[in-house]
Amino acid sequence: MAEFTEIVKDYFTNVEVSNSVLMDLLSEFLEVEKGGEQLYEKALELVFDSEVKTKFREFHKQTMTHQKVLTEIIVKLGGNPRSQSPTAKVASKKAEALLRSMPVPGFSREQNQLNAMENIVLAETKDHADWELLGKLARQTTDNQLREVLAPAAKMVEQEEDEHLNWTRKKLGELQIEALGKASKSANSSNGRSTEAHRTPAAQSKASKPLSASSAKRRTKRKSANANQKTRNGQGHRSSH
Ligand SMILES: [Fe+2]
Ligand SMILES: [Fe+2]
Repeated sequence: MAEFTEIVKDYFTNVEVSNSVLMDLLSEFLEVEKGGEQLYEKALELVFDSEVKTKFREFHKQTMTHQKVLTEIIVKLGGNPRSQSPTAKVASKKAEALLRSMPVPGFSREQNQLNAMENIVLAETKDHADWELLGKLARQTTDNQLREVLAPAAKMVEQEEDEHLNWTRKKLGELQIEALGKASKSANSSNGRSTEAHRTPAAQSKASKPLSASSAKRRTKRKSANANQKTRNGQGHRSSH
């Protein structure tokens, strides 16, 4: 939903849009909703969090209603909802690409859930922008018929689009934080195990044994010889300037 100041500004701004340009745009927006329907269906096969499942079922239903609303708008404005504009064809390809990107072979159940939710956020970002634009157009148009057709539809759908995008984005963030914590824990514990496992048996027994007095003496001697060499190198370096 647009901000209050933007809404007020829209009422003092006029825009004229030709019917054919508007029909192409509405055809694209309808295609986005159709892609959304398929994306929710695919995502519902992959998500397992009960809250996400419930919300996605609700959003899927609303997405189908949005298709009906857009179809009615196109018909009322004299267009053909079956014809596909060039940008509608691109919208369809984008949805296909998102559908192909899930599930990811080799991903865990958790990773596939997060990936499906991320795809929904991507699709809903576009869907949300579409309806925000229709709301803006309803406020700015000089065409009374267009305003009467668009305004009530945008008023109803924009609120739902706000929830589709904001809820999914927030929930995705929560589940990602949880997954990061889990992955870090298991990475830390397996790192500890692998460091120990990669040592040779001789190195392992050396690491666990205390140093004998003579070895300790030899190590101290080596350290002080190295330190002396470093000091001499440093002095030589300074005197060359
Ligand atoms: Fe929608
Ligand atoms: Fe949506």
